[in-house]
Amino acid sequence: MVLPPRQTETGTKRVPDADHPFIAPGPNDMRGPCPAMNTLANHGYISRNGITSFEEIILGTEEAFNLNRDMASNMAAINMLTRGNPFVNKISIGGVSPFVPPLPGKIDGPETQGIAKHGRFEGDASMTRSDVHIGDNRNFNQTLWDMDLEQLVKFGDDGPDGPATVFNVQTLIEMARQNLESDQVLDPEFAIPIRRLNLVFGAQSLIMSVFANGTTQQATKHIITSFFMNQTFPENWFRAASPVLGSPIPAQIAAALPEWVPGHNDENGVFVADPPAPAPFNSSGGCANYWDNLSNAVPGTLANVTGIFKQNVDLLTGILFNASSCAESVAPAGPTNV
Ligand code: HEM
Repeated sequence: MVLPPRQTETGTKRVPDADHPFIAPGPNDMRGPCPAMNTLANHGYISRNGITSFEEIILGTEEAFNLNRDMASNMAAINMLTRGNPFVNKISIGGVSPFVPPLPGKIDGPETQGIAKHGRFEGDASMTRSDVHIGDNRNFNQTLWDMDLEQLVKFGDDGPDGPATVFNVQTLIEMARQNLESDQVLDPEFAIPIRRLNLVFGAQSLIMSVFANGTTQQATKHIITSFFMNQTFPENWFRAASPVLGSPIPAQIAAALPEWVPGHNDENGVFVADPPAPAPFNSSGGCANYWDNLSNAVPGTLANVTGIFKQNVDLLTGILFNASSCAESVAPAGPTNV
């Protein structure tokens, strides 16, 4: 595994180009809970069979979505560590695949699961997928999307497609509120540890920072529905005008929903807050997020590997540490075979 060089062309451009037409997935191709990964696979920016690698994810998200390499490598690293095989450098964007073997010595169970597997990265309160305990956590759910769009009708900006058809921060806040509130009530095993709560807010923000048309800067209902529902680039779409690195939007959503802290339902369905990250990992939200990922999501057996396997794990955990703002690193310590 090698971190690819940063892309040199960093402006907007029309996507897809002629080399990347939409081809619907075949019956053996993997697709899963991420609308961006599904879209990239449907257009061949990553392998069309849905089995991809660390480098391919970075190059594909840079070219098609103009992601900054730091953000691209961070997302690739956490997913590869939690649900991929970092020894052979393969990961399924859906479920278990014959093309992604178990880890050497089956140190994380008999199969490598793929990003659709619940619990480490995939989690509750998604916009367009059910919670795993009450439905299908992998495929687009029209009813959930319609509920999200009800918030757009109430809070959206006016745009070329009509009144209240353009996503803004208030719409994302109200969508997050609705998804969290309804899943807390409906899902007896509802859980949003800090890594998951951050991801709920982060994924919402990608609607405006990554999926918006790079020329108009607008995230219209038509554009966003194309990504979520049809898993294809909308016609006449341009990637972001400059490389996308963080965004202020997740913090704005969090600030608007102070009642939503990391936590989970107890056996009576009552929401209970999680204890905070221990010192010194409570120094910032980013550091607590890193601590939670390494302690509870990245399998602990990855701490004891050797050779090329270790080199790859060190590269990936190093990327997460560098982005964490923590002063101290954490060795992988999460449960295995879950
Ligand atoms: C251009 C970069 C990316 C964008 C714009 C993006 C966008 C999104 C969005 C909007 C969701 C939320 C879906 C929903 O709530 O219904 C999501 C979920 C997800 N993404 Fe991505 N993603 C990106 C990169 C990645 C990468 C590189 C991976 C892993 C290889 C990944 C894995 C996932 C997973 C596992 C989920 C499910 C989380 C959940 O809702 O439980 N994403 N992504």
